[in-house]
Amino acid sequence: MRADPENTWDSVESLSPVSEKTAETIELLQPDVKTSELDKIIVRGGNPLRGEIKISGAKNAVLKHMCAALLTDDAVTFTNVPVGLRDVRFLGQVLSHLGMTVALSSDGKAILRAQTIKTHIAPYDLVRKMRASVLVLGPLLARHGQAEVSLPGGCSIGGRPIDLHLKGLEAMGADISIESGYIKAKAPQGLTGALIEFPFVSVGATDQLLMAATLAKGETILRNAAREPEIVDQGNALIKMGAQIEGLGTSEIRIQGVERLHGTTHDVVADRIETGTYMCAVGLTGGELRLKKTQTSLLPALIAPLVRAGLTIEQDGQDILVARSAPLVRGTDIMTEPHPGFPTDMQAQFMAMMCLCDGASMITETIFENRFMHVPELNRMGANIRVQGQSAIVRGVKKLTGAEVMATDLRASVALVLAGLVAEGTTTVNRVYHLERGYENIVQKLSGVGAMIEKI
Ligand code: UD1
Repeated sequence: MRADPENTWDSVESLSPVSEKTAETIELLQPDVKTSELDKIIVRGGNPLRGEIKISGAKNAVLKHMCAALLTDDAVTFTNVPVGLRDVRFLGQVLSHLGMTVALSSDGKAILRAQTIKTHIAPYDLVRKMRASVLVLGPLLARHGQAEVSLPGGCSIGGRPIDLHLKGLEAMGADISIESGYIKAKAPQGLTGALIEFPFVSVGATDQLLMAATLAKGETILRNAAREPEIVDQGNALIKMGAQIEGLGTSEIRIQGVERLHGTTHDVVADRIETGTYMCAVGLTGGELRLKKTQTSLLPALIAPLVRAGLTIEQDGQDILVARSAPLVRGTDIMTEPHPGFPTDMQAQFMAMMCLCDGASMITETIFENRFMHVPELNRMGANIRVQGQSAIVRGVKKLTGAEVMATDLRASVALVLAGLVAEGTTTVNRVYHLERGYENIVQKLSGVGAMIEKI
């Protein structure tokens, strides 16, 4: 297992601009995300959170939408895009390299146009920075008939193979070999529809094959497909681009291939993981937040345990109101599962919240093999967590104390920030660049609702 791509990088560099001027672009972003290894977040615990936070568009939907824009030579416009996220910028660089014009504007708009594909090669140097860039494979193959994409490798939360992606594309007629660390795929006559039954649920493999199947000849059936809201959002955007897709949100998706896709405009679904993260923050600090432009229906399996733990959660029009009704959250067990089960991307934050619970909580991780890296760091802050195999037992403690901590992945990092919001004294979270991969303006959003937090 290698540490790196999606969750860690071994080199941190300033981003170069991914934007290119187009007639429609309102305001182009400068490469303003300049985080170095030395940047830290300092949190002083003690303040309850009160106020409003605007929830951003879902990172895990936007990344797929950006790849899907490779499927057409028309311009595709997305709104509610978290343009400040490092992952969005990184993928923008990969897509620019392939020939796409990527214009990101500070009002959350992305205008993408792959009028021609300049190269079908996505090199290691670009792919290694972000694992999800392997999702250019299916669209390149479907539109261009060939693709060479660097293997993304493992990452800090597990080996993360992509065998299901490759087997699925082979079943659709692609000729695939692995040479010198690259996936080399060809389908000179185009892809053909196939019946693909996944042995277990994979979000990435479902995304990859859904995109590829839109331009394949005939029908593709994906069985045991992932049902995540981001996949539904991706499918809906593809339908607006002219794709014929049925069964989104169920475990059987049927796609009738079409000759070509065209441009569209699509508003990206709210980030349910960002939503859940701020809910857990309230569980720790108390207070009340209005989470703007997001929906409880995106998080079925998170709402129930949060309510059992003592939070009140209410949909109010386009917003969610969340508050903690009791002085302490109650110990509550959870187990991660594919959607609509409890999301693995919320496990670390839920665990941070359980550190101060009344009683104990058993947290079981079933999706990734190595996703408890926040445990030793939380324990350094005074938590009482013991890992046994796939499960962690969290016994509630009276208080957490600030410490210097470091995490090696995105969700683990944010869990440490949450713990810092209630810890006595100062918590210094190192390797801030993880957070900037997936949480837009987290420091501004939290300080805007009363947290004592700053980036130095
Ligand atoms: C996506 C999300 C990630 C989330 C995860 C699970 C994006 C960009 N990332 O990741 O935030 O944590 O879903 O909800 O959307 N697997 C294989 N072979 C494959 C593919 C996957 O063995 O070909 C395994 C993985 O190692 C893992 C499990 O299947 O153990 C689920 O992975 P998958 O659902 O594919 O996750 P990602 O799409 O990588």
